[in-house]
Amino acid sequence: MMFASSAVRTASRRVVASSTRRQFSSATAKTASSRSAAPMIAAAGLATAAFVVQQSKDKTYNLFGGGDAVQKAVADAEDKFGNYWPRNIMILFGPPGAGKGTHGPKIEDMLGIPQLSTGDMLRAAVANKTEVGQKAEAIMKAGGLVSDDIVVGIIRDRIQEADCKIGFILDGFPRTQKQAKALDAMLAKEGACVTKVIELQVPDSVLEERICGRWIHKNTGRSYHVKYAPPKSMKKDGSEKPIESTMLDDETGEPLMQRKDDTAAALVKRLQGYHGETVPILAHYRPHGIVRTVNANQKMDGVWGEILAALGRGGD
Ligand code: AP5
Repeated sequence: MMFASSAVRTASRRVVASSTRRQFSSATAKTASSRSAAPMIAAAGLATAAFVVQQSKDKTYNLFGGGDAVQKAVADAEDKFGNYWPRNIMILFGPPGAGKGTHGPKIEDMLGIPQLSTGDMLRAAVANKTEVGQKAEAIMKAGGLVSDDIVVGIIRDRIQEADCKIGFILDGFPRTQKQAKALDAMLAKEGACVTKVIELQVPDSVLEERICGRWIHKNTGRSYHVKYAPPKSMKKDGSEKPIESTMLDDETGEPLMQRKDDTAAALVKRLQGYHGETVPILAHYRPHGIVRTVNANQKMDGVWGEILAALGRGGD
């Protein structure tokens, strides 16, 4: 079922390279507990089924009479949303360190649509030493932008996957006007368009501390911060620096790592790219009335509250 597989992808959202993505079985779903997928699957199924009951006056499903009825209700809803409703296509927008990777998974959990991070896909390609990875590695390490053709190709393939049927959240794409136009054109072929752009606004001055203090769990992409979101195991040395051997993932106990481009020097280049090439995209989408700006320079809970408001249908 799509909702189930979407939830499971949420549980392992950072394992996203098209070539390496797995088709998850329901057995896998039961064991993918890192992000508590099972309750979400149940909730998604029930919520969807309830929606079906409300909507289908001529069809009533016995929701509490057995799993088959619920599964049928979910499958019918999937079919309806997947084939006849417009896709929910969001862009999570913001500079490096704005909080896209922090809040994207929560939007995924809430809406049941996958977050597609071109950065993660490219990092997976680098790790797998694919042709794309070999082209991208040095550019990424220095904080530059990978070629438009490569990332457009990656996204074109990825959004055709089954878990994107009712929508998806783009994180880190589009990053240039050329990418935005390519995205619009590929969506227009099916009569679709970007439905919302959520801009996380943060002054550059706070980003170095966020980027240089970030540690991640490589397999899942879970993100930590030495000051704002430390792992439970973290210990500091006499000069208040975190001791590397104590930087462990809360859920698996595996070592955390720092990204090669999370340096002050690479950040300067990443920010130049963001302001020079990416910010103008907002002007491209603003006339459509779909851009919502969130103050991402506040505590994470406050940011999330504003994102929730922005996800709703009301205006700014
Ligand atoms: P990518 O992976 O997309 O990196 P990025 O855009 O630079 O974004 P980040 O992942 O660094 O930031 P984030 O907003 O997710 O921050 P997070 O939530 O973790 O791209 C990497 C590279 O790939 C690019 O440089 C480029 O080379 C290439 N690339 C990718 N897409 C491309 C494209 N379309 N075209 C061309 N090239 C492309 O937060 C950061 C830290 O801050 C965390 O530690 C977090 O805990 C902390 N934090 C978050 N929110 C708060 C808060 N409110 N208060 C305190 N701390 C906070």
